Amino acid sequence: MGDPRLLRIAQPVTEFDTDALHLLLTDLLDTMHAANGAGLAAPQIGVDLQMVVFGSGEFNPRYPEAPVVPRTVLINPVITPVGEEEQLDWEGCLSLPGMRGMVPRWSQVRYTGFDIYGDPIDRTVEGFHARVVQHECDHLWGKLYPMRMRDFTQFGFTEVLLPSIAVAEDE
Ligand code: NI
Repeated sequence: MGDPRLLRIAQPVTEFDTDALHLLLTDLLDTMHAANGAGLAAPQIGVDLQMVVFGSGEFNPRYPEAPVVPRTVLINPVITPVGEEEQLDWEGCLSLPGMRGMVPRWSQVRYTGFDIYGDPIDRTVEGFHARVVQHECDHLWGKLYPMRMRDFTQFGFTEVLLPSIAVAEDE
């Protein structure tokens, strides 16, 4: 946080299934897995493109209560809220290590975009899956989760706020 590359509006991907895009995907997945992240966006590793990865398809020690989200590569996404209901829940971000905040998100969203081969993705999701998509895609619009928060009494160090899961944090 504080790096101006995290505050840019990312550029759309114009060519799919290229060597460069596959290399970027490998880099994103390696970085996400090394840090036990729930997701990662290209701007977080300094790449100015609209590409995010999220989900693991398995248990994540950083989010022990979270339901499993299918591993997804999402390019040039568009997110549309379904209904007006919001949910508050804790979020962390690999760009703000060691911290958590209580962030409002749409409870249910539809997201569209493309996979790495340029095939269309169109899903309507809710709960944690919806939260992760909104968090990751926000990185493409230059938004970090504190910019979505309304109550800063619920923002702080994971080891203070949520000591039981702090042991799973990266440094
Ligand atoms: Ni993040």
